[in-house]
Amino acid sequence: MERIFSGAQPTGNLHLGNYLGAIRNWVKLQSGYECIYCVVDMHAITIFKEPAELIRSVHEVAACMLAAGVDPKKHILFNQSRVPAHAELAWVLNCVARMGWMSRMTQFKDKAGKNRENVSLGLFAYPSLMAADILVYKATKVPVGEDQIQHLELARDIAVKFNNDYKCNVFPLPEPVMLGTSRRVMSLRDATKKMSKSDPSDYSRINLSDDADTIALKFRKAKTDPMPLPETVEGFEGRPEALNLVNIYAGVRDITTEEALKEVGGQEFSRFKKVLTDAVVAELEPISKEMHKIAQDTAYIDSVLKNGGERADALAQPVLNEVYDTIGFLRN
Ligand code: TYM
Repeated sequence: MERIFSGAQPTGNLHLGNYLGAIRNWVKLQSGYECIYCVVDMHAITIFKEPAELIRSVHEVAACMLAAGVDPKKHILFNQSRVPAHAELAWVLNCVARMGWMSRMTQFKDKAGKNRENVSLGLFAYPSLMAADILVYKATKVPVGEDQIQHLELARDIAVKFNNDYKCNVFPLPEPVMLGTSRRVMSLRDATKKMSKSDPSDYSRINLSDDADTIALKFRKAKTDPMPLPETVEGFEGRPEALNLVNIYAGVRDITTEEALKEVGGQEFSRFKKVLTDAVVAELEPISKEMHKIAQDTAYIDSVLKNGGERADALAQPVLNEVYDTIGFLRN
């Protein structure tokens, strides 16, 4: 059976973009693949985090994943730092990846901004740890949102270069999996930017933990334009806010943008926002309730992550051994 790997950073709560772009697909793909899902705490410290906050975030994000339907018995859910092979392979891949490849990463450029000299070396090397996450399990399918595609292409480049340099075929090439209309959910305040945990305004995103009233309020305040919704997709030209809200509607209903317009095309925003709120609440409310319940029980979450970590470790170690043998590291 083909193996899937994917991860999400423990930086506060997961939002609707994480859910529609990634986590919901993780859950769907559980029938048909062997899945390994990871809370990437080692990626999270590329930007300083208070230890207590990191622990809280790992619990929160793991609770979100469990509430959304990740099955930790049939599949694996763990936090990255439990499996040392990620860091060990990342070092090897650091020696394969080129500085030029890393400097072209748009996420690094965005996060570093004008402050390039002063960001951590870990932030620069972030994509090679991500490549290690995937390759240490020889995973071939990686469900992600559109913003991670460039990192995934880099993971493939690293795998190809490793195989070429060492004249071997150790790593299969991982492919992205993107399903549905919500590959890129945009901010509710500025539809030219993606919905993101790091946006200072909480009104820019719907958190999976938001209750129905908060979701309604955020959609009421969401930026729009004065015209009613278009009847066809061509009508979205120059109207990124309208497109984003309709795509969110299509996303939660799991239909195409065209199908969504058959239902809501031509509506005034005031009416559509109520329809949209109801659809989003119907999808998120059960998850949010379950999440709050699971989040209370940190002992349960820890036991899931520990068990997942042990099983992940058992899969990763033979691959790391194969890599070390290929490289010529003496170990006995
Ligand atoms: P992260 O934590 O930023 O996001 C987790 C997942 O959510 C998707 N996503 C979105 N999808 C649609 N619209 C949005 N606005 C949106 N925002 C986030 C992301 O594409 C991602 O799939 N580097 C990764 C974590 C990672 C990883 C990996 C992923 C580490 N190692 C290995 C896959 C494989 C990240 O920061 O995701």
